[in-house]
Amino acid sequence: GGGAAPNGSALGFEAIAPVDLETDEFTVPEGFAWHPIIRWGDPLFEDAPDFDWNAQSAEAQERQFGYNNDYTEIQEIPDSDGKRAVMFVNHEYTNENIMLPPETDEAAAMEIGMAAHGLTVVELQRESAEEPYTYVRDGELNRRILLDTEFALTGPAAGSELTRTAADPEGRTVLGTLGNCAGGLTPWGTLLSGEENFHGYFRAAGTSEADKRYGLADEATARNWEAAHERFDARGEDHRNEPNRFGWIVEVDPFDPESTPRKHTALGRFKHEGANVILAEDGRAVAYSGDDEVFDYLYKFVSRDTYVEGDTEHNKTLLEDGDLFVAKFTGNSPAAEIDGSGAVPADGAFDGTGEWLPLVLDGASQVEGFTLEEVLVHTRLAADLVGPTKMDRCEDVEPSLATGRVYVACTNNDGRGTEGEAPVDEMNPRAENRDGHVVEIDEQGDQTSTTFAWNLLLVCGDPAQGDQTYFSGFAPEEVSPISCPDNLAFDSVGNLWISTDGAPDGIGYNDGLFRVTLEGDARGRVEQFLAVPREAETCGPIVRDEDRSAFVSVQHPGEDGEWGAHTSHFPDYDGTGPRPTVVQVLPA
Ligand code: FEO
Ligand code: CA
Ligand code: CA
Ligand code: CA
Repeated sequence: GGGAAPNGSALGFEAIAPVDLETDEFTVPEGFAWHPIIRWGDPLFEDAPDFDWNAQSAEAQERQFGYNNDYTEIQEIPDSDGKRAVMFVNHEYTNENIMLPPETDEAAAMEIGMAAHGLTVVELQRESAEEPYTYVRDGELNRRILLDTEFALTGPAAGSELTRTAADPEGRTVLGTLGNCAGGLTPWGTLLSGEENFHGYFRAAGTSEADKRYGLADEATARNWEAAHERFDARGEDHRNEPNRFGWIVEVDPFDPESTPRKHTALGRFKHEGANVILAEDGRAVAYSGDDEVFDYLYKFVSRDTYVEGDTEHNKTLLEDGDLFVAKFTGNSPAAEIDGSGAVPADGAFDGTGEWLPLVLDGASQVEGFTLEEVLVHTRLAADLVGPTKMDRCEDVEPSLATGRVYVACTNNDGRGTEGEAPVDEMNPRAENRDGHVVEIDEQGDQTSTTFAWNLLLVCGDPAQGDQTYFSGFAPEEVSPISCPDNLAFDSVGNLWISTDGAPDGIGYNDGLFRVTLEGDARGRVEQFLAVPREAETCGPIVRDEDRSAFVSVQHPGEDGEWGAHTSHFPDYDGTGPRPTVVQVLPA
């Protein structure tokens, strides 16, 4: 692969052309090849059976790689000569329609689906940086985190009235994690995972303001777990607070398979896409997190205590206490110049200033009528009262460790500017926003600042189809079309990489992974590196440009198919159905 690599990156490639919707292929640039590292169902332990489409069981699935890999991170194992690594993966949800033979017993199907949720830690090995990784069956660090794995609640809401249930009267120990979407690697080597669409797993009374605001309703859930496991039925007194024990940021130490994973209440409870941490100059840990719901908000957490180099046990407590803020954006162009088309205002930029509005400061609620515990458990209700900006669905929010600037993927919002909904503004400038946009926040030298400057890096779409787009002034005819930005990552020299989820319904191409130049004359240039197979979402990008390598998690390939009529056969193409898979791309 040739092509100029921005900012001195070793990963040069010629952008691929966008890929048509019916194409069930994993597409890479010329000179590159793709390799599946681990697939749904691959055995993680010595005693785990090999995957067999027609002999699935919950017992097997508990010992195999889970379904719908989303956030993915790889860390080298120290002193391993670059040959061994540990990978962490979220399993966000399941697609039972394509996972299981239709004759599967209903009760068994439910248990298999439950066991396919959760998290995986798995060791990887390779001969050299020129060879792809393979996963290590029975690696010492291998671990499945399941719905019966104990999590410790931490922070001010742990043990509160709002987190107690009949099964856990102390309100401090939760079984399992749900809806794990994006995540982040902390400076101290642990992984964060966002509990996003947890509401879909609970049947609740649905009558309280909190239930309504969090989408909890008195309706049978899609998977009907509440029929077999009473804690998912939160209508009665015993389990009323069970949904309050999900919707958190989870922290896992991948280097300690015996460690208890934790849920940090100090970061608030909402549909966390994920969270990413950067250290402020004074050593406090600053975490950014978006609430992935149309017209919901962007949040920032600032730890009370400071990072201590080399003291992992101390650093693992940093997310247990601190201040919580929600973002309010103000544009600097006249409202009349924002016509809903996405056309850039007369000053040449979608930009302005912003404020981080406090919800919690110094261990005290800043919201009238809300206790500290209430702010943290019913964060959306508390935030509603302080006037933050309603966003177009914040997915990944990630600070660049090179510059401190923070990038926010606003994936789409078809309700923007429609009757009765929030109007367009300079921050969310397109009505019925189909293709999304990417925000750049500049904390101006202090990550803990309560004010910031912002601009839109990208207003996404396909210029060739006549979409109104903006690429920070870069020539629209020279970019790859891009739609529905979701996950973000940076390469070693600070270029931004974006993976997408929803391009098929946006610009009408398969989803993919894109590099965006941030610095210099080519700022805003978008280049497509890969495309995923039919009906898949591109997740968990990891870029190792020093090795000319990148990794993605291919989530829900062939999701619209059914048993016997699969629409994708990725990655094996042997006539069987699709398997969500972590893939490495490197020079052929
Ligand atoms: Fe699970 Fe917001 O994507
Ligand atoms: Ca402006
Ligand atoms: Ca996502
Ligand atoms: Ca998404």
